[in-house]
Amino acid sequence: NSAGLPDTFGRVATDLRVSLTDRCNLRCTYCMPAEGLDWLPKPEMLTDDELVRIVDIFTRLGVTSIRLTGGEPLLRRGLPGVIRRFAELEHAPRIAMTTNGIGLDRLAQPLADAGLQRINVSLDTVDPDRFQELTRRDRFADVERGIKAAQDAGLHPVKINAVAMHDPSGKDNPADLLQWCLDRGLELRFIEQMPLDAGHTWERDRMLTGMELQERLGERFTLTALPDEARGSAPAELFVVDGGPATVGVIASVTAPFCAACDRVRLTADGQVRNCLFARDEGDLRGPLRAGASDEELADVIRGTMLAKRRGHGIGDPDFEQPDRPMSSIGG
Ligand code: GTP
Ligand code: 5AD
Ligand code: SF4
Repeated sequence: NSAGLPDTFGRVATDLRVSLTDRCNLRCTYCMPAEGLDWLPKPEMLTDDELVRIVDIFTRLGVTSIRLTGGEPLLRRGLPGVIRRFAELEHAPRIAMTTNGIGLDRLAQPLADAGLQRINVSLDTVDPDRFQELTRRDRFADVERGIKAAQDAGLHPVKINAVAMHDPSGKDNPADLLQWCLDRGLELRFIEQMPLDAGHTWERDRMLTGMELQERLGERFTLTALPDEARGSAPAELFVVDGGPATVGVIASVTAPFCAACDRVRLTADGQVRNCLFARDEGDLRGPLRAGASDEELADVIRGTMLAKRRGHGIGDPDFEQPDRPMSSIGG
């Protein structure tokens, strides 16, 4: 299928983000309520066989890399087995994962052996008390062990994702997190918080912007922006830290959207195709798949969904509406 997956704005999707479950073992305040959410019932989730079939179709439509996400992808049973099956597809994609790191201490090596190539770990603070306040769980030490295990398993580079936030107590400084990452050879990226929380409480004025973050980091480090060519379709703007070689990234999805270069498409754990994090409509694959649709019929659903992709996320537009699904059920 040489035509690939174009939209009507000249973009072509080559990167599929696959949500393996909507469940999570943390309760990050900017994502989920303390009591969790109504998890998808098992029968509504794609089985391993269904997942592998759908990913195979995407790779025939030009997808060259996949990123496994959640909720928390490590909570999916039999994860190394599915990864191996993705890695053995005829048009095998590059395989990456975004995880909160809990359980990686045991899983990093089996996942790498199965064919996982890269990993990003979400970590917003290196202060264990602040970690507990933000995630409502006392698991900083687990994440720390998980990151170490990923590095030991040869998953290189390990990237750290931190949602940029103001600390009301003023104690937590993003520079502390950067120093911690520099000491361990980890590639840190800060992310502007987007309106994807389950409670719909996001407010633009409360968000820490990429600019403000640069200023805060600048109090302790010298940051030199790398030219945009270094970035390609990657969402992070990169800065060399103190003359290098280490870099720090800023993903300014809200104040400097990268929608024009977006090469992404998403598959939810219940088998819906989303052409954007902020998509209003989804393409149903699970229904037709379970009703016996052919690969070509499923490919038509995928192509049609991509043709409906809008120009950008529209955060800030007067008619902007936050999607019904929170981040945890879309996959970051
Ligand atoms: P790399 O290949 O390692 O650069 O991965 P990545 O940055 O694409 O993936 P990751 O899952 O680590 O994403 C980091 C953050 O980027 C996410 O938490 C989101 O906040 C943001 N992000 C990822 N994909 C999109 C997207 O399609 N649109 C927008 N607006 N933000 C995204
Ligand atoms: N805005 C931006 N990033 C978010 N994440 C979770 N919620 C949001 C949000 N509202 C991040 C997580 C993780 C990735 C999957 O998405 O911290 O790094
Ligand atoms: Fe879990 Fe990620 Fe949501 Fe935190 S942000 S509760 S780690 S899904």
